Amino acid sequence: MIWLLVLLACGEGGDDSATETCDRTPPLTYENFGQGFLRTHCTGCHGALLPEEQREGAPLGVDFDTWGDVLNWAERIEVRTGEETMPPGGGPSAEEREKLAEWMACDVAENL
Ligand code: HEC
Repeated sequence: MIWLLVLLACGEGGDDSATETCDRTPPLTYENFGQGFLRTHCTGCHGALLPEEQREGAPLGVDFDTWGDVLNWAERIEVRTGEETMPPGGGPSAEEREKLAEWMACDVAENL
């Protein structure tokens, strides 16, 4: 799936952003960025411990509590946040979405 992440990252316009170069120091990681982003914006519905009636329709099993979950769902996380259909009610700022895209295209893609 690396090709898809690269393709999406490259589709963002020809600027010289860290998303394309992955040269941010220190780099964005699960620990310093991803986990916090997902806890703030996603696991309120996509949490493994949430019973069905508290998931606001998020499908059972589509959970983002761990780094392993991120790797399993990387492609769909990238697509749904890229097209801004998740979270359904919005929430992340443009800057947060850019950082997410960078984290996915760099740290996550490198570990797939
Ligand atoms: C308010 C509850 C809620 C929040 C918060 C939320 N989701 Fe969802 N999510 C849903 C619902 C409802 C569905 C099923 C309907 C759909 O797919 O649009 C879903 C489905 C999904 C799916 C599975 C379907 C697919 O396209 O593969 C993914 C992946 C996903 N969400 C990603 C995310 C991400 C990433 C975040 C955080 C940025 C997030 N969601 C935040 C409610 C939520």
